[in-house]
Amino acid sequence: MEMPSNEKAIASNRDAWNDSARHHKDNPEWPSLLTAVTQGDFCCIDDTLRGVLEQVGVDGKDVVQLGCNNGRESLSLFALGARSVVGVDQSEAFLDQARELATRSPHAPEFIEADIHHLPRELHERFDVALITIGVLNWMPDIGEFFRHVAQTLKPGGALVVYETHPFLEMFDPEAADPYGLASSYFRSEPFVQDQPIVYEGKVEQPAATSYWFVHTLGEIFTGAIEAGLQISHFKEYPHSNREELYDRYQKQAAQLPLCFTWVGVKR
Ligand SMILES: C[S@@+](CC[C@H](N)C(=O)[O-])C[C@H]1O[C@@H](n2cnc3c(N)ncnc32)[C@H](O)[C@@H]1O
Repeated sequence: MEMPSNEKAIASNRDAWNDSARHHKDNPEWPSLLTAVTQGDFCCIDDTLRGVLEQVGVDGKDVVQLGCNNGRESLSLFALGARSVVGVDQSEAFLDQARELATRSPHAPEFIEADIHHLPRELHERFDVALITIGVLNWMPDIGEFFRHVAQTLKPGGALVVYETHPFLEMFDPEAADPYGLASSYFRSEPFVQDQPIVYEGKVEQPAATSYWFVHTLGEIFTGAIEAGLQISHFKEYPHSNREELYDRYQKQAAQLPLCFTWVGVKR
């Protein structure tokens, strides 16, 4: 298979997320979300991430979420005391959902459509805290390049908080006959390729733009962050899963894999 350029992969990922957005609205979670966000203290951030955000300090701060999807986590940052919140995503269709949620909310986040590799200048050096959560890093073909753009959003001394799925999981296929068999190299360089809509549960048998999921080792992630001028001040791995339900099977094992992690990088 011929690999697309990084730019083409990013553009195709944007089209794939746009193609997928309507399927996320078909989910029974959507109407519940529309009601839940009317409460000023709405918060869908789990205890793990909440603890890290409280440690870093979001209260009274200007916060940006990069890869904000439908904005539910961006809206939740107000419950932790954020002074202002900006959500950035390159999917117009998901930002439509984010804006729909925001109109129901008593808070006023700003949602900006942009590829993180081409952020508008007005976002440079503007934030005390930048947030990246579950399922963002792997859409990026060049993780070092990605962190250079992420770091630009922070004021000096500002903190990037990351809560992501663990790259060890990329070695396993939860749907294989032996889900613990080693299915793919930790050092895999070619992306996983999908031509169906991106949904969190099950599969939708319909064509969609091709999406490219890139594997990054922990070493590549930290090297990229350090080279972007971020000093790692916290890193913790956890035995719980924060990704699709399929991966819950890897929890509560005697020989436990790390399933997700949090880390914080402070801009020098
Ligand atoms: C898995 S979702 C994040 C979901 C979020 N953690 C949540 O729970 O709501 C990943 C998001 O990253 C966005 N994304 C992927 N590549 C991007 C890029 N280059 N620039 C901006 N957003 C991007 C996608 O459009 C998608 O909305």
